Amino acid sequence: MSEEQHFILDGRRIPFEDGQTIMEAARAAGVYIPHLCFNPEFAPHGSCRVCLVKVNGRVQASCTLPAAAGQTVLSDIEELREIRRGILQMLFVEGNHVCPACEKSGACQLQAVAYYVGMLAPHYTHFYPRRPVDASHPDVLIDFNRCILCELCVRASRDVDGKNVFAVQGRGISAHLVINTPAGKLGATDFSVEDKAAQVCPTGAILIKHQGYGIPIGQRLYDRKPINVVGDVAQASESQGGRRHD
Ligand code: FES
Repeated sequence: MSEEQHFILDGRRIPFEDGQTIMEAARAAGVYIPHLCFNPEFAPHGSCRVCLVKVNGRVQASCTLPAAAGQTVLSDIEELREIRRGILQMLFVEGNHVCPACEKSGACQLQAVAYYVGMLAPHYTHFYPRRPVDASHPDVLIDFNRCILCELCVRASRDVDGKNVFAVQGRGISAHLVINTPAGKLGATDFSVEDKAAQVCPTGAILIKHQGYGIPIGQRLYDRKPINVVGDVAQASESQGGRRHD
């Protein structure tokens, strides 16, 4: 009988199947690797770099790297925690993430991952970009200040909803999320609160109206348990602190 193929992650044996990435195999084994642009329902995007691991001495994105027998993978080490903290610190200053004033606080993956990697305060000088809020849609609010360019809404709208409501325009520091209408307003699209794209935002950039503060801050998903325990799948069913499924 052939032996199950596996790699070693932080000293633990992780079995994998052909075609699985390190992230997928780790998740299947119940091991949390921090991530933001990865969502198990979508193809890996490899853009946020929060999921970096060290594989046979090289730092690589675990969400895109195929698992292979013989790999020695390190994730939960201070060297990587520091890199992840740096990435999170840059994400926080590049937008306007004012957690105490955000409806998503306590149910936000960005906030939860920041806590997980030990980012307790900003480090770099804030950019304070001037970005609009789009309240033109009757059921959904878009706050561009909180977008981290994970493109999950872009992918969900295009690949699942078949609507192509969102896009990213510009490159590098000028890259920003846009709504695909001449005036750039969500209210002019056929976007629906039932769309997959309305459910996948890991931050408070896409908020469902009419359900704010259904769960008080302090009792929300990541207020109750850290993200490495809860994971991101549960977040989809309790994505805004507006519904509770205990
Ligand atoms: Fe892997 Fe974003 S989760 S690059």
